[in-house]
Amino acid sequence: MKEKIKIAIIGLGYVGLPLARLFATKYAVVGFDINTERVAELILGTDTTLEVSDAVLQEVLVQKPSDENGLFCSTSIDDIKNCNYYIVTVPTPVDKNNRPVLIPLVKASETVGAVLKKDDIVIYESTVYPGATEEECIPILEKVSGFVFNKDFYAGYSPERINPGDKEHTVEKILKVTSGSTPEVGEKVNDLYKSVITAGTHLAPTIKVAEASKVIENSQRDINIAFVNELAKIFNLMDINTHDVLEAAGTKWNFLPFKPGLVGGHCIGVDPYYLAQKAQEYGYNPEIILAGRRLNDSMGEYVASEVIKLMIAKDVRIKNAEVLVLGITFKENCPDVRNTKVVDVVAALKGYNTKVTVYDPWANEQEVLHEYGLLSKKEIPNSKFDVIILTVAHNEFKELDFNFLRKEKSIVYDVKNILNESIKDKTL
Ligand SMILES: NC(=O)c1ccc[n+]([C@@H]2O[C@H](COP(=O)([O-])OP(=O)(O)OC[C@H]3O[C@@H](n4cnc5c(N)ncnc54)[C@H](O)[C@@H]3O)[C@@H](O)[C@H]2O)c1
Repeated sequence: MKEKIKIAIIGLGYVGLPLARLFATKYAVVGFDINTERVAELILGTDTTLEVSDAVLQEVLVQKPSDENGLFCSTSIDDIKNCNYYIVTVPTPVDKNNRPVLIPLVKASETVGAVLKKDDIVIYESTVYPGATEEECIPILEKVSGFVFNKDFYAGYSPERINPGDKEHTVEKILKVTSGSTPEVGEKVNDLYKSVITAGTHLAPTIKVAEASKVIENSQRDINIAFVNELAKIFNLMDINTHDVLEAAGTKWNFLPFKPGLVGGHCIGVDPYYLAQKAQEYGYNPEIILAGRRLNDSMGEYVASEVIKLMIAKDVRIKNAEVLVLGITFKENCPDVRNTKVVDVVAALKGYNTKVTVYDPWANEQEVLHEYGLLSKKEIPNSKFDVIILTVAHNEFKELDFNFLRKEKSIVYDVKNILNESIKDKTL
């Protein structure tokens, strides 16, 4: 008889929830998270990350564990005991020295190890360096369960490729890389994802290949953005508009369309460090990867210094200048403030003794205060500013009345190059 598939998703964040929701349309799914507030809001049918709309979430929610299709959310390990597929989607951040932090992965593996049964399959989705699944996670599963890997239980790795805030490229529409700890398990893992991912799947030959493929996707983006950020620094010195240059160069079929900007979030600005650390363990010092990181991490301070130069040129007094920063999230039209580099712009400007106000209609004010000690407003301030810096391309900012917001002698700096030429003094 064909086994009845029952899936546990461990970690219901930006990645785990959309995946759990999708699988729940075809399978019995238990979503497990240690964050009681998160689980409570999901049980009530609301996703504050805005990745899954309330209506779509509520369509699959069930209020008690069941063997029928649907999503049951829980903080209790008892509720995942009967599952046979465990999919781990917990965070993989770095510490203040940019070293990988595997604690959530270790804890999640302990949780799964405690409920593991014969023939279960554990699939990791969190972004890691090649080798992390087999070298760090599997030994924990073995130790806690007492089972033998690839005899009593199996593993897979299938990296997540979703793009927060992107309502077009949703999880089922993005081709998914899969892998398994044996060729047969690879096929099983691939079949599981293929049954819900309409864009299809790519079965990688090994778990390490699948892990490496994900971490280089984000590292490649990071390096490409670092290159155009470097171009912006060069062309600004030469008084050439970088965006005009990129537009002209972009007319060649193989010129890649990257834009300068702040590189935040917990993927592109973090994942290259995972690869770099592993490379260093093997005695190789990654030059390009770390140079890209350094360059991108310098952009917040650079934006602030460009603004200060403009203020001096226009005779706008710096001390106590009223500065309005438009946007604190790490990207447009999304409430995610993790690892946002706008805080570097704010810190540098405060260092020049200016008074900074942050307006972001998307960001959660409490979260910004908790994470960064910054006051962020959801309502546009009813006053005039010496400097306005657009740092995030939220749609709302395109409609703002800049004439109302700016003082007569003032600066508008557009990091994202979305404002009309007539409004802004300069772009990055
Ligand atoms: N957000 C993205 O765009 C994206 C895209 C691709 C890959 N990824 C990767 O996916 C992984 C998850 O990212 P995310 O954005 O969903 O993170 P997130 O912070 O939004 O969600 C993680 C969830 O896991 C929960 N959690 C933490 N430890 C746990 C544990 N021990 N047991 C159960 N739950 C636990 C947290 O409470 C949280 O709700 C990371 O490795 C990330 O790099 C993220």
